[in-house]
Amino acid sequence: MNFQLSEEHLAVKDAAKDFAENACKPGVIERDRDQIVPLEQLKQLGELGFMGMMVDPKYGGSGMDTLSYVIAMEEISKIDASVSVAMSVNNSLVCWGLETFGSEQQKQKYLVPLAKGEKVGAFCLSEPEAGSDATSQRTTAIDKGDYYLLNGTKNWITNGSTASTYLVIAQTDVEKGHRGINAFIVEKGWAGFDISAKEDKLGIRGSDTHTLVFTDVKVPKENRIGEDGFGFKFAMKTLSGGRIGIAAQALGIAAGAYELSLAYSKERETFGKPIAQHQAIQFKLADMALEIEAARMLVHKSAWHKDNGMDYSISGAMAKLNASEVAMKTTVEAVQIHGGYGYVKEYHVERLMRDAKITQIYEGTSEIQRIVIARGILS
Ligand code: CAA
Repeated sequence: MNFQLSEEHLAVKDAAKDFAENACKPGVIERDRDQIVPLEQLKQLGELGFMGMMVDPKYGGSGMDTLSYVIAMEEISKIDASVSVAMSVNNSLVCWGLETFGSEQQKQKYLVPLAKGEKVGAFCLSEPEAGSDATSQRTTAIDKGDYYLLNGTKNWITNGSTASTYLVIAQTDVEKGHRGINAFIVEKGWAGFDISAKEDKLGIRGSDTHTLVFTDVKVPKENRIGEDGFGFKFAMKTLSGGRIGIAAQALGIAAGAYELSLAYSKERETFGKPIAQHQAIQFKLADMALEIEAARMLVHKSAWHKDNGMDYSISGAMAKLNASEVAMKTTVEAVQIHGGYGYVKEYHVERLMRDAKITQIYEGTSEIQRIVIARGILS
């Protein structure tokens, strides 16, 4: 067992850190305040090869491993989780889903520009009545011979307006339950596809989260992903990997809050000495460091499982559940360490605390992760 990162992984870490510090940090407070989508940052991520990190170079990707991806996700999430969620959805859900299950034609047409970062993708599973209970899809896609007729509403869609390529999960045969669900590739601009309300969120406010409405959208037959009835498994398998990415995001949010707290506690003085010399603060810093290190081990282990062809659905759920809880706890403590300064935007930790919360909700709530883990250990 080797806990040392390789030269290649360290280079990815440096590149991601440099990008986060120089391209993401300037303006992060304003983007959060005004809900500005980080389009320039996403363009630069594409140029760095970080929008299709794990995609084979023959499809425009960087051909890196999952460990590289989580290392980059952690560094970027330390500074701006609105950038990293767009990166995560594009990499883990959209590119991975297309590369693993798409046809050659779908890969050439859709995956290549997504992996190069020329276009952005979105993953459309959640509905007003189908969030955690993902089999209860109300969006329908009726087989009309040459095409499917898509009708329905999707909620809380990350990259909702930024994306050009949408992977949409829909019910094609309600009688068949989860085996009557399919996944489709839908393009922005198709007749009947409307990008509706943008959510005004607590956190990740730079990320554009939208409701999408499909009214008699004609989806060509060749845009169905995989065999008929594969859509639910497509979504589950894709989300299993997505959870590793969100675990890395949560880890980064926690680590970012910890690093700010460590630096602040060495500078800020009370009762005649830096607050880092008060045991009350030392205990908080010690707990943060311990919990972040343990979270990193689980994140890296699930990435390693994926890179080595092993099952990662349980370890990914464990990594996400743990890292998101560590993110929440760490960011609350970071605000506490900063005192009154922690409660204002300038010091960043209040934003990290707001951003942390979503990691316990999207790509499966903490309760869903417990279900996945429990089923795994009991099966
Ligand atoms: N990998 C492969 N197959 C899987 C799987 C996995 N991880 N999980 C389930 N399956 C398969 C099962 O084996 C089963 O197949 P068979 O019938 O052939 O045996 C089939 O799928 C149905 O499985 P279940 O009976 O377990 O399904 P369920 O209805 O009980 O639901 C669940 C299971 C785990 C609760 C699932 O509904 C779930 O994960 N829900 C959460 C959905 C979610 O994460 N939503 C997030 C939205 S996306 C998002 O947030 C993206 C973003 O924008 C950031």
